[in-house]
Amino acid sequence: MLKFDTAYYQRFYGDNGAHDYERIAHLATAVHHLAAWWDIRIASVLDVGSGMGMWRDWYHDSYPNVSVRSIDVSEHACATWNHERRDIASWRPRGKFDLVVCHSVLQYLDNASVVQAFENLSAATRHVMYLELPTKWDYENIVDEDATDLQVYQRSAQWYRGHLSKYFRQVGAGLWVPLNGVPMYELEACK
Ligand SMILES: C[S@@+](CC[C@H](N)C(=O)[O-])C[C@H]1O[C@@H](n2cnc3c(N)ncnc32)[C@H](O)[C@@H]1O
Repeated sequence: MLKFDTAYYQRFYGDNGAHDYERIAHLATAVHHLAAWWDIRIASVLDVGSGMGMWRDWYHDSYPNVSVRSIDVSEHACATWNHERRDIASWRPRGKFDLVVCHSVLQYLDNASVVQAFENLSAATRHVMYLELPTKWDYENIVDEDATDLQVYQRSAQWYRGHLSKYFRQVGAGLWVPLNGVPMYELEACK
């Protein structure tokens, strides 16, 4: 993947970048503890499109006993930050992971590849998936155009929800649980 080279990571993860380790630490702490509130013990994590490996590193630093597998399609990212080289559109792990993280990845995949990726993410998720990706509306209304890569696919939330709802229930704040997963109070998650 030529696009995801040294210049890409310097451009979007430098001083004006999308996020850094400190911000990921806040997010990962919240996700880990919310799972604990649901009585889900996170013992295994799959970080999909890991990039600089911030989620992986936070787990290693904070919970060294949690087993973390990080994958990325970029040869550069894999060589630099030590991930397995996999394409989530075509790769499905054999087992499941308590938590699957897919943070700012799927906007780079075409429609057919996202549909395949959702199947693979579903097959990989035992309890919780953290999914973040900007929609068309986000690009038009929210994202900082200077700090964000705009060479992406822009799709509606409706399109994403239509495909995700075959496998997951949306909790909110980027969290999704398998359809037959942990029971939620009616007002705790979306229908
Ligand atoms: C914007 S970066 C996000 C990195 C990291 N998840 C984060 O939030 O800091 C997107 C990453 O997704 C990876 N990626 C893109 N397409 C992928 C695919 N089909 N399978 C796996 N990784 C992919 C890229 O190589 C890149 O490292």
